[in-house]
Amino acid sequence: MNNTWVNEDNISSFMGNDVFYFNQARIEIQDTIGLRLRKEILEWLNCEITYEQQDATIIFNYCNSKFKNDDTYHIYQTKGKTIIEGNGSKAMLYGFYALIRLRMSHQSEQDYTSTPDQSIRMIDHWDQIDGSIERGYAGASIFFGALNKLDNPDRGDFGVDRVDGDPFRHNQEKLITYARMLASVGINAISLNNVNVRGQGTNLIIDPYLSEVAELADTFRQFGIKLFLSINWESPKHIGGLATSDPLDENVKKFWKDICQGIYKEIPDFGGFLVKADSEGEPGPYQYGRTHAEGANMLARAIGPYQGTIIWRTFVYNSKQDWRDRRTDRAKAAFENFKPLDGQFDKNVILQIKFGPIDFQTSEPLSPLFGALKQTNQMMEFEISAEYLGHQIDVNYVVPQWQHMINVNTKQPDLKDGTSSQVLRETSLNVENTGFAAVGNVGMSPFWTGNPLALANLYGFGRLCWDNRATANDILKEWLDQTFVESNATTKRSIFNIMSTSNETYRMYNAPLGVGFMVVPHFHYGVSVNGYEYDRWGTYHFADRNGVGVDRTQATGSGFTKFYSPKVASQYENVETTPDDLVLFFHHLPYTTVLKNGETLIQTIYDQHFEGYERSSNYLKEWQKLSTDLDKNIYEKVLQCLHKQLQNALEWRDQVNTYFYRMSGIKDKRGRKIYQ
Ligand code: GCU
Repeated sequence: MNNTWVNEDNISSFMGNDVFYFNQARIEIQDTIGLRLRKEILEWLNCEITYEQQDATIIFNYCNSKFKNDDTYHIYQTKGKTIIEGNGSKAMLYGFYALIRLRMSHQSEQDYTSTPDQSIRMIDHWDQIDGSIERGYAGASIFFGALNKLDNPDRGDFGVDRVDGDPFRHNQEKLITYARMLASVGINAISLNNVNVRGQGTNLIIDPYLSEVAELADTFRQFGIKLFLSINWESPKHIGGLATSDPLDENVKKFWKDICQGIYKEIPDFGGFLVKADSEGEPGPYQYGRTHAEGANMLARAIGPYQGTIIWRTFVYNSKQDWRDRRTDRAKAAFENFKPLDGQFDKNVILQIKFGPIDFQTSEPLSPLFGALKQTNQMMEFEISAEYLGHQIDVNYVVPQWQHMINVNTKQPDLKDGTSSQVLRETSLNVENTGFAAVGNVGMSPFWTGNPLALANLYGFGRLCWDNRATANDILKEWLDQTFVESNATTKRSIFNIMSTSNETYRMYNAPLGVGFMVVPHFHYGVSVNGYEYDRWGTYHFADRNGVGVDRTQATGSGFTKFYSPKVASQYENVETTPDDLVLFFHHLPYTTVLKNGETLIQTIYDQHFEGYERSSNYLKEWQKLSTDLDKNIYEKVLQCLHKQLQNALEWRDQVNTYFYRMSGIKDKRGRKIYQ
């Protein structure tokens, strides 16, 4: 089973007669990516390469430094031939995949030039060396397979990370296909292992594991993808036998310098380290009374001589909150920890900031750090794996949400009036050290992802990184054309209708109006209205008999709104100007409040939950009509997922509606069944 968007079966018939020619072949021969491109043509596409230009139908035209950006490619037609032009092999590879995409999705290849909007386009794997994946919902890791299982052996309990013998899976075919999938949408960086680096996972930075990491780097390098590793802040103690991991300690500095030297000996183009520090129990510089700038810069200086980068996450908050204490607001944490350090990070440090202030919820505002940081490299972080978005069981094409987030206007008075995706480039120290990253979603599932349709999110993330103005719907159409090649237009339209509305649908039957976190604790799938209401993670909805929501205003609440630019702050400070889908993120409101949709808050909660269920039920019915026009395995797997989704939506609908009915005592004005 292979439902990659472009695979051997669906592509060979369409490119079979093409003959490729490399203009200025000498340049191409010299590099790894060029050699890979030849292999892609000969072995993957099963096409020919010619040494006579006149015999060719497709010509790769190497033109050195014609383009400002080495990733830019230009596809055009002349004298009956298709030309792909770019500065070097990487651009050629991108152009080659783009040509396939254009043809398969019936778009014009007459004159198509493309340059990526984001410099770093990265997938963060939360894979662990025992083969499990934290928040992985697609089977076990494709990189690690020590337990030799295909299921995720560690689902919902990610503490293992102990292995005997060789932890690497060595499934070269799978790795090549994955690297191809990533490169075909322009991904140019991956981080191999979970940000929570535990047990033997700490040792990936030294031999014997390091030489195997180097083998993986060799595979991904051919596709223009750099490899990063997550590190454990306490490595100087665990690996180096030091008494401290204090970033200002000379022995600690030397430890990291030696580590970097060792890594670059084996992986000369190693990307760098991804660091989760002082967060959710992970160690960090705070332990030693140091700032995150001191911590990050120490690493940056150790890796700097090799042109490496430190990607430092801002997901730092007090995870031991007390629900009784209303002054602490988790949403404020990243800003409070990192805004004061603006301008203190070295040029090869990048802050990786979750798109919202809390944690990949169904509906969150943009993190106020975007636009507020003025002199710090930044990346925006997303989560493709769908931890809070249906675990790749419920259909949830998330690209519309991401498209929205990268287009939010920060309205900072001193910046160009740009979208968040532009602002992060404008306010960074050097544009090469900016971009988007997302937690990946593939595993050993025969479909790559739990629900086969979830693969569209990986595709969509890559396409959005490359083209920040692409629309979720256009991306989806492209993906459908490249994935369901054999299916007819009606089938594709039906799947399009399901997927393009699925993110909104999921939001409808989930926690209402931006309040978040009504999920089953720890697992984060399924409803549990009060599951997180009295715990330590700062995830409260504060529902009582009068109303619901978190007051984050300056006037009466936690004051979080003040972190935004004055225009945005005043928008969120007032209920009237806060968008409905964020209204409970910012305000605690009586159930009778009339929202912008013209309905009361309580009625909106009821309406959305009934509609979310209704839509899920229609998805199932629509899907059942497609059985004869789809690959049987894909059809069956999605069908199974849709049945589970319906059950999930039902529980969400009834538990949320009943809870708020009991709280408010207000009946549904449309008289539908709400359990008492
Ligand atoms: C979420 C998730 C964790 C993860 C964390 C992170 O809180 O539940 O499993 O470790 O995000 O982003 O680091």
